[in-house]
Amino acid sequence: MRKNYHRREFLQLSLAGLATLAGCGEFRGGTLDDKITSKNQILNLYDNIAKDTGEAISDWGFSALIRYNGKTILFDAGTFPDIFKHNAKVLGADLTMVDIAILSHIHPDHIGGLDYLLKINPDFKLFLPNDGNLGGKDEFYAEMDKKYARGYLYRHPNTEFVEECTEIAPGVVLVATTSPLAGGFWKYPPYENEPLFIEMPELSLALEGKDGQVSLISGCSHSKIEEIIKKTRKYIGKNVSLVVGGFHHLPYSSEYVYNIARLMKDELGVKYVAPTHCTGEKAIAIFKEFYKEDFHYFGLGTKLLL
Ligand SMILES: [Fe+2]
Ligand SMILES: [Fe+2]
Repeated sequence: MRKNYHRREFLQLSLAGLATLAGCGEFRGGTLDDKITSKNQILNLYDNIAKDTGEAISDWGFSALIRYNGKTILFDAGTFPDIFKHNAKVLGADLTMVDIAILSHIHPDHIGGLDYLLKINPDFKLFLPNDGNLGGKDEFYAEMDKKYARGYLYRHPNTEFVEECTEIAPGVVLVATTSPLAGGFWKYPPYENEPLFIEMPELSLALEGKDGQVSLISGCSHSKIEEIIKKTRKYIGKNVSLVVGGFHHLPYSSEYVYNIARLMKDELGVKYVAPTHCTGEKAIAIFKEFYKEDFHYFGLGTKLLL
């Protein structure tokens, strides 16, 4: 069950929510800070999907910086700390403002830049999936060698491992799922029926707007984007309006992707999509074709209103 916060105690921003998103789409220019007093927004800091990025460097990986009701949230941190640092600088993102950092899963293209954040910002709260390989739940590692103790990969005093869906602040929900697919490409079609090696814990981020509409940010969706959406709906009790991030459709056929797009729109009630990163160019084009004006480009350097 979710905690029952008294929402009026918190700043209620005058965003027009996803109606605004639908009206203006992505916008560029300025810094993340210059509009934070009036807008909840997400900025793409690290992505292999890119066009007209100016000085920002495109590289395989994903990271997004989010302003939400006065909080600054980092979701994933890209692959290389130097590129992460560079992109934050040229895109005008002040990472010393980060209050909360979330790593979606253990893959290097989502966690590498955290080293830079740890250097410049000692005060943020870090949320990790409960992954033994991140030093999470598997006490075997702790006994085997101290260096594999809980949190060994990123030693940060303010770390919490998340195993179940959790509302960490008013309207800020971590959606915990476990990947039935090993995480790489070898368990995707046509190999999906082979025995599974691992189950990888993942976190996605759901944000509930003032108007009650829910935005969902995913990292790589190894748990399958439709399953993450279903779990979000079940936990929050509302449809997900916007889904942003990596859908991990690179390994799939066009027919498979089209069916997922149709499922998301027609059965799961997702109004807007902004797929990027491991969704892959081909699948992104299919979502664009299917969602038409409700598709939003979200490559490197893009901002979207939430
Ligand atoms: Fe990824
Ligand atoms: Fe991944």
